[in-house]
Amino acid sequence: MKDQLLQIQKTTLERIPSVTDMKELDNIRVEVLGKKGELTAILKGMGKLSNEERPIIGKVANEVKEAIEAAISAKKAIMEKQILDEKLKSQTIDITLDEVSKLPGHAHPLYRTIAEIVEIFESMGFAVSEGPEIEWAKYNFDYLNVPANHPARDESDTFYFNDDVILRTQTSTVQVRAMQAKKPPIKVISPGKVYRFDEIDATHSPLFHQIEGLVVDKNITMADLKGTLDYVAKRLLGSETKTVFRPHQFYFTEPSAEMDATCFVCKGVGCRTCKGTGYIEVLGCGMVHPNVLRQCGIDPDEYSGFAFGMGLDRLTMFKYGITDLRLLFSGDSQFLSQF
Ligand code: DAH
Repeated sequence: MKDQLLQIQKTTLERIPSVTDMKELDNIRVEVLGKKGELTAILKGMGKLSNEERPIIGKVANEVKEAIEAAISAKKAIMEKQILDEKLKSQTIDITLDEVSKLPGHAHPLYRTIAEIVEIFESMGFAVSEGPEIEWAKYNFDYLNVPANHPARDESDTFYFNDDVILRTQTSTVQVRAMQAKKPPIKVISPGKVYRFDEIDATHSPLFHQIEGLVVDKNITMADLKGTLDYVAKRLLGSETKTVFRPHQFYFTEPSAEMDATCFVCKGVGCRTCKGTGYIEVLGCGMVHPNVLRQCGIDPDEYSGFAFGMGLDRLTMFKYGITDLRLLFSGDSQFLSQF
């Protein structure tokens, strides 16, 4: 009987190391130690043994049982660890992976132009001022001295929400807001979107961008206007750039002018971009009209100022050689990634 027990121990301990799954291990346990198991069957037969033999065989049987149980639980522990390791490996999240970095964005060419211009003005002590795109009609027209019957007020030119509220057609509205918010000295610029009723084509869009500028202080003259804008043109378009101020008419400035700058494609020689003139129109400007100052609560006898408004979309197209305005608003990443 003792040999039988030791044989069971031997074969069972030989089987255990090669087991590969929990079910197989449990089958071995049941086959050997279970109710109908080999070892259990032998133990059941112990009643037939003599009184001398019984404790000896009993001791051996217990040792065999313990050895097998220990081997099974050791194997079980090894397999549990293996299962856990595999699970950890397959479920690992690599926290160093950064999905966002796969799609690196960069500044839109239009916003690069804005950033460049803002930086130039900031270096001259201008502050950036903001105004809403949905604006009171009176800020867009009345406060800016635009006559009641002016065609720009017409619904065919301006987007109206109702009689009093519109989408601003010019960033000049920010002049009004700046003057109402603060006493002079005022030195602000304001880039932003403006809207006009226009069909979309290669050179027109109902949404476009302007940057407005306003300086109000004592003794501000046309010389300040010209000096400032000529300096900005040279920084923005190259130090060789020359500027020309042509008389013009705006309701909110008197006198008013348009500023042309040397064509930055042909450097003034004459090309397709400047239509052979050597110059490109860059902005509208003038001395702030006394009516505008007065309506915004500033005494025109004490203070004077200059203002300007520059279109940004055409400038960006020239700068980057873009021939269709629609591309700027297309959101096409293939187009945008060129810049
Ligand atoms: N608001 C004008 C426009 O949209 C541009 C402009 C002209 C702005 C003269 C000014 C200015 O501030 O003084 O055409």
